[in-house]
Amino acid sequence: MKYKIPRGTFDILPDKSWLWQQLESTFFEVAKVYGYERIVTPIFEMSELFERSSGESSDIVQKEMYRFTDRKDRSFALRPEGTAPVVRSYVENHLDMQAKITKLYYMGPMFRYDRPQAGRYRQFYQYGVELIGSNHPYYDAEVIALQWDFLSRLGLQDIRVEINSVGCADCAKDYDAALRTYYTPHLDAMCPDCQARIETKPRRLLDCKVPACKALGKDAPSQLDFLDEPCHEHFDQVKNYLDVMKVPFVVNPKIVRGLDYYTNTAFEFINDQLGAQNSIAGGGRYNGLFEQIGGKSIPAIGFAGGFERLLLSIEKADLISGGRISPDVYAVALGDDAQAAILPLIATLRGAGLYVEYEPEKTTMKSQLKAADGKSSRFAMILGEDEVATKTVVIKNLLTKEQVTFPSSDTDIIVEHMQ
Ligand code: HAM
Repeated sequence: MKYKIPRGTFDILPDKSWLWQQLESTFFEVAKVYGYERIVTPIFEMSELFERSSGESSDIVQKEMYRFTDRKDRSFALRPEGTAPVVRSYVENHLDMQAKITKLYYMGPMFRYDRPQAGRYRQFYQYGVELIGSNHPYYDAEVIALQWDFLSRLGLQDIRVEINSVGCADCAKDYDAALRTYYTPHLDAMCPDCQARIETKPRRLLDCKVPACKALGKDAPSQLDFLDEPCHEHFDQVKNYLDVMKVPFVVNPKIVRGLDYYTNTAFEFINDQLGAQNSIAGGGRYNGLFEQIGGKSIPAIGFAGGFERLLLSIEKADLISGGRISPDVYAVALGDDAQAAILPLIATLRGAGLYVEYEPEKTTMKSQLKAADGKSSRFAMILGEDEVATKTVVIKNLLTKEQVTFPSSDTDIIVEHMQ
């Protein structure tokens, strides 16, 4: 075969696509009960949008963005994440004029040029929510509760919710200074990436997987010791709300998000069974992002999760039930007249929402009933010469083998019989 799928991408084939659809519809239901409405933004945006929002020194911008120039030499990028596009759209469409608080959700492919491995792909499918317009700590807890509910509806337990506060810009400045003081005497023992980052993004050092850097990170100062009074109070309230809302969580002061826009609450949903790529969802507050990309200052919070890691979690927990679709009715036509007469009946049943299978290449009763069986159809609708002559149709329940003959014009009754 000459053509191969690009590395780090995959096809969603029918044996899995039904599950994919179940994830989508479950997420739609959860988003709805929390009052979120869908927003759809383009797959590509101006590169600068991500450079300004994710942070020039972030891995996403430095190493992982799929950039391209168009015919007019403008620089675009396939979106690596969904938050910056939503913020861009919100500002551009003046959504702040419509409501004080806007609750949006999205779903779709994101692209990051990363080294592919289990749970990490170059094209992956994210779902996420953004709540824009309030700094109230209740909403921090609410978006975490929404994701928790989603996982509960999928039957996923044993997921750890880790939360942290990275404080506001002022707290972050003090904390960065403390980290530089802590790490600088150990520079020689650190990896080149960390050596380079100590000036620009010292917090990313806490996230380094190189053993020497990881060991150093253990005794590094904690973010929580550098929160000012209002940030401390905000974090305490988020924890209180989570307690009251019965969402279990642990505080992990070492959470470092890979994107630069976070302020105050940051969180991750971890499934330890997934190995290295164990974060199934992550997010946080980003009160500074609107200003950063050219709007007025608006507080916001959100998260995103990945369908691939959800599916891996569902498979590992052995939670897969259901399967590919089977016909409600298999249409059996015997002879030319029946073949013609059965088509309007099929159209009526499909119009009533039933899945009707019909295969005109099979012409004998035996071959058609065998196919109905093979596809696990619930009913067969049989039309032979006699039925055409008497304007009737036979409906056979393939489980009980019970057969009933109906006038073929009584389609409402036929549909009801098969519900
Ligand atoms: P993120 O942590 O970069 O956050 O990604 C969120 C989730 O997307 C991860 O927890 C993971 O499930 C999935 N994911 C990320 N990269 C990959 C990959 N290469 N392959 C498979 N799955 C992946 C964000 O993207 C933020 N925009 C979240 C957010 C929303 N923060 C505030 N609002």
